[in-house]
Amino acid sequence: MRGLAGKHALVTGGGSGIGEAICKRLGEEGCIVSIFDLDLDSAATVADAIISNGGQARAYKVDITSRQQVEIGVELAEADQGPLFGLVNNAGWDRAIPFLDSEPDHWDKVIDINLKGPVNVTHAVVTEMAERGEGRVVFIASDAGRVGSSGESVYSACKGGIIALAKTLAREVARSGITLNCLCPGPTETPLLENLDPDGKLVDALKRAIPLRRLGQPDDYPGLVCFLLSDDAAYMTGQTISVSGGLTMHS
Ligand SMILES: NC(=O)c1ccc[n+]([C@@H]2O[C@H](COP(=O)([O-])OP(=O)(O)OC[C@H]3O[C@@H](n4cnc5c(N)ncnc54)[C@H](O)[C@@H]3O)[C@@H](O)[C@H]2O)c1
Repeated sequence: MRGLAGKHALVTGGGSGIGEAICKRLGEEGCIVSIFDLDLDSAATVADAIISNGGQARAYKVDITSRQQVEIGVELAEADQGPLFGLVNNAGWDRAIPFLDSEPDHWDKVIDINLKGPVNVTHAVVTEMAERGEGRVVFIASDAGRVGSSGESVYSACKGGIIALAKTLAREVARSGITLNCLCPGPTETPLLENLDPDGKLVDALKRAIPLRRLGQPDDYPGLVCFLLSDDAAYMTGQTISVSGGLTMHS
């Protein structure tokens, strides 16, 4: 990818699943990678793998739901590894519960991680990017935010909110040289999906419904993330792209 080598990119939730695959690919492309995760051991293992492969990476224990931890983390990452050019808002969480059976504690947790967290990180990082007049942001949203997903009502609302946030902010900061786009994965084999579907019934039904006849794998997404962070995507902002084996097809 053009223009990625030597650029500093931050990935939230980079210790597992899709985020881990994105971090490793960014390392291969020559990016300097910072990883924010609640689980420092997993994030450090990913950073070590990037370093063993000849790259540069650091892991930070940051809970994205805490505005204070995010501000300290961004300051530390920039002091350690230089100004941030890229941000990948990837961290997310859910448990499947029908809306009418769900409780406010569950709504609060889902909203804190999937909506307030990306808002915290984006505000902190884009403020710095705007001062420098350049930057790229990619949100890992979900097709749940475009077409809905049974048992994931509040999560879907958060992902729809992220898509709207990206479009609005893309308009506000375009003149500061910053682009923001969303990637919507379809159902993907990661710990998050295992927790949503412990008996595997949903997965079996999904495999039959997906035109490409398989679930997503974490490695299905880093190529598009790298493209959106690269020079080749310089004229692209406020867009939402589904990568879901054809499960959803948007005009
Ligand atoms: N797996 C899927 O089927 C699927 C489908 C569509 C979208 N997504 C989205 O992709 C993204 C990655 O999901 P995944 O499946 O790889 O999940 P995962 O559970 O494998 O990884 C999520 C990572 O985020 C971290 N994290 C969670 N809460 C955090 C917080 N408050 N602060 C910092 N880090 C935190 C976790 O520790 C973990 O390392 C999420 O935004 C998710 O909503 C996943």
